[in-house]
Amino acid sequence: MTVANHFELLGSNGAARLGRLTTPHGVVRTPAFMPVGTIGAMKGLHWREVRDAGADIVLGNTYHLMLRPGAERIAALGGLQKFTTWNGPMLTDSGGFQVMSLAQLRKVTEQGVTFRSHIDGAKYELTPERAVEIQRLLNSDIAMQLDECVRLPAEPVEIERAMQLSLRWAERSKRAFESAPDGYMLFGIAQGGDVPALRHASARGLIDIGFHGYAIGGLAVGEPQEVMLAMIEEVAPILPTDRPRYLMGVGTPEDILEAVARGVDMFDCVMPTRNGRHGMAFTRHGQINIRNARHQDDPRPLDEESPWPAARNYSRAYLHHLVRANETLGAMLLSEINIAYYQTLMRGIRAAIEAGTFEEFRVATKEGWAKGDI
Ligand code: GUN
Repeated sequence: MTVANHFELLGSNGAARLGRLTTPHGVVRTPAFMPVGTIGAMKGLHWREVRDAGADIVLGNTYHLMLRPGAERIAALGGLQKFTTWNGPMLTDSGGFQVMSLAQLRKVTEQGVTFRSHIDGAKYELTPERAVEIQRLLNSDIAMQLDECVRLPAEPVEIERAMQLSLRWAERSKRAFESAPDGYMLFGIAQGGDVPALRHASARGLIDIGFHGYAIGGLAVGEPQEVMLAMIEEVAPILPTDRPRYLMGVGTPEDILEAVARGVDMFDCVMPTRNGRHGMAFTRHGQINIRNARHQDDPRPLDEESPWPAARNYSRAYLHHLVRANETLGAMLLSEINIAYYQTLMRGIRAAIEAGTFEEFRVATKEGWAKGDI
């Protein structure tokens, strides 16, 4: 059965692609960065700030939401978009990855994964079918298949076992998703660790099953950046050009720039909000640790040319003071400044692809970061 396509490739520049993904809750301009609102909240930000910063789509997590407040409860309250007031496109991760990093006493079998909640120790089972069901209850625009992600370094036999299991789960996920209404999407996830042949087998297997989009998983899990980029170079050329490609859990602004240069369309990462809570600011001049004592008497803003008011209006001395004093406002301001920086970067990337100047943009942006905090 053919899978409906909701992605339009608008142009390309080298391997970098400009596109538009149409979801039931709105349009996503790609390349897109999805801020992570794990539990139905963007830590430190109002939803309107996420929207104003330029995000078209945000990410939620099956694992956290199934534990609290529960998928059935969210469904009864009208779905995640209505529940949160975000009301725009949402992608949800399937839970497998979070179970591996957060849950206790987890056990993977052919059937699925059983685990105990990190909140109260209660026992749960997540199967490919239940992961799809939960994401449907959440009313997620884009659901992800349940997969098993192996941390690197790992033995090739272990990487292959998880990859083959993920392929069988991909097939079961697809079957479970067949009753979803038109417009909703399911993405497959390519695994295969740092082994090119396994990456190829995974991508080909997913394409045979057929998905609305294809994710590259199992990266940024302990390998050097060059290995991550090499694996993208193995997988991206195999993937159908008319479907969106999503690199999961990545990354730094530089990772994103380099992955776009290799044909990736979508990204998500906790880095802008998590690092913001720890006093780290992402700027045109690279990362700035505002906790550093050299900022305490500095009246300059983080970036006088930023389109985001908080990056222009608050002095580094004030941000330093807030963060050192553990004031909530410090975490809030740095989180919104970082989300806005990521969205400014994505806007610049899209404009450069459209203008046919992506390579110049890539070089100039990296030079700005390398110059450092001036
Ligand atoms: N987030 C980051 N990497 C992964 C992955 O490999 N699988 C899933 N499901 N989520 C991820």
